[in-house]
Amino acid sequence: MTLTHRLATREDLDALRALMEAAIAELQKPFLNEQQVASSRTIMGLDTQLIDDGTYFVVENDGELAGCGGWSRRATLYGGDQTPGRDAALLDPSKDAARVRAMYTHPLHVRKGVGRLILSLCEDAARREGFARVELMATMAGEPLYRACGYEAVARILDDRGGAPVPMARMTKAL
Ligand SMILES: CC(C)(COP(=O)(O)OP(=O)(O)OC[C@H]1O[C@@H](n2cnc3c(N)ncnc32)[C@H](O)[C@@H]1OP(=O)(O)O)[C@@H](O)C(=O)NCCC(=O)NCCS
Repeated sequence: MTLTHRLATREDLDALRALMEAAIAELQKPFLNEQQVASSRTIMGLDTQLIDDGTYFVVENDGELAGCGGWSRRATLYGGDQTPGRDAALLDPSKDAARVRAMYTHPLHVRKGVGRLILSLCEDAARREGFARVELMATMAGEPLYRACGYEAVARILDDRGGAPVPMARMTKAL
């Protein structure tokens, strides 16, 4: 098994959407009921701004798309292009935390270190831009990965913008 990585491009969009749908549908099942998984589709997913910013990574396993995820120097904390309330304002590395965004591993490639690899790429890139802290909004499916990588939960919310309330945890880590 060889994991390789590169920046995502707009040519990856269809494959990324399919991967995210598989991850949302399959990997959230142990944590959420059917209504909550449906509701998740409104508040999660692809943010094309990250691709345009050059801050979104793709990981391939022996050449096959295995996962994706990125970071951001912009204010939006989580959500896809379709999620209401987005804010593209630039953050200030001297006082704000960079964001970790839209982490998804294909169900056929979980627990191979794809998520861990993407997180380290994001943290390295944010550190290089002068950020001293990263922050994210974790799904219940994502929280074990972030905990394993040194993130701490600082707040818990229920997001009901998609219908059924979905539990999420705001998490942070010093770089
Ligand atoms: C969260 C997600 C990206 C994790 O991806 P992954 O590539 O399987 O994660 P990794 O293989 O890098 O896991 C690294 C470590 O995190 C922890 N971890 C990851 N998934 C876990 C799980 N389901 N249960 C318990 N621990 C888990 C483990 O400590 C793991 O190390 P180990 O496998 O050596 O025990 C994937 O489960 C996913 O796509 N979930 C659905 C979409 C989602 O909710 N994304 C998060 C948005 S905030």
